[in-house]
Amino acid sequence: MAARLSLRASALLRSNPRVVVPRLSNVRYSSDIPTRSPKTLPAFSMEGKVCLVTGAARGLGNEFCRAFVQSGCTTMAIVDLKESEAKEAAKELTELACVNSDLKEEDVRIIGIECDVSSELSVQRAYAETLTAFGRVDSVVASAGIVENYAAFDYPFDRIKRLYDINVHGAFFTAREAARNMIPQGGGSIVLVASMSANIINIPQPQTPYNASKAAVRHMASSLAVEWAKKNVRVNVLSPGYMATKLTRTILNHDPELKKTWESLTPMGRIGEPDDLSGAIVYLASDASRFMTGSEIRVDGGYTII
Ligand SMILES: NC(=O)c1ccc[n+]([C@@H]2O[C@H](COP(=O)([O-])OP(=O)(O)OC[C@H]3O[C@@H](n4cnc5c(N)ncnc54)[C@H](O)[C@@H]3O)[C@@H](O)[C@H]2O)c1
Repeated sequence: MAARLSLRASALLRSNPRVVVPRLSNVRYSSDIPTRSPKTLPAFSMEGKVCLVTGAARGLGNEFCRAFVQSGCTTMAIVDLKESEAKEAAKELTELACVNSDLKEEDVRIIGIECDVSSELSVQRAYAETLTAFGRVDSVVASAGIVENYAAFDYPFDRIKRLYDINVHGAFFTAREAARNMIPQGGGSIVLVASMSANIINIPQPQTPYNASKAAVRHMASSLAVEWAKKNVRVNVLSPGYMATKLTRTILNHDPELKKTWESLTPMGRIGEPDDLSGAIVYLASDASRFMTGSEIRVDGGYTII
């Protein structure tokens, strides 16, 4: 990996000597180093937006934060179960924000906050800390979630309950607290991360409570969207297909054949990379989607269309 990165970095430097190669070890060069400033629709900019993302220490949540930073966000709360990982992620994102930019670390305000989204009190504390630091929250993404594979007859009830507590109630607490704070400030955007599993039944692995939890999240978003539409708080859903994160790697490590099965069931023939979701999350979180609420965007390589 390191050799590939340095090859790409030197190729970029040859083609554009003004490009500054970032120090970060985990920067992915394809999307992180602009060779020139591309022209984009201003409504997609996250400049000036205060963001809060749950489950953001790693995986898709972390990728969403990277996409926001790449789109100009400099003020953000990284909310996750483990404080040290959340703070470490905040440090890395701060460095990323300064790459190829006039920004210095003191211009960037990205903080890591410990929170268990299954506890309403914990979510309220995370928002309180964010508001104390930044005064407002404009875009919130509820990405914290877990998956487990048990056949229905074998699934221990305490684990089912824990899954719903995180995936369903955690998304609800996150959205409710967001709207409580967004309504008085004049509005905001909330994105709940569901899954293609809200629409289809994954095979061959059994995961009934997960599928049901994601269908609940999808419908929750539509319901909340109607409740808060007139208050200018939008609630939408991003539903990824199979993406290469720790969550899926844990499953695939136990069963390498499964990867081939998943790829063969996906029309585009591959598992998604986390940054395949960057465009969709920025669209939903930014003013680019300002007349969209209660909707779902599926980014799944075509899985759900066949
Ligand atoms: N990876 C995929 O293929 C895929 C596909 C569809 C949907 N999703 C959904 O995307 C979301 C993110 O998945 P991922 O692949 O990034 O998972 P991941 O396991 O890589 O990361 C999840 C993050 O959430 C955090 N988290 C877990 N429980 C938490 C809790 N109670 N409170 C706060 N934080 C908590 C973890 O610490 C971790 O940082 C989940 O909601 C998942 O269901 C993932």
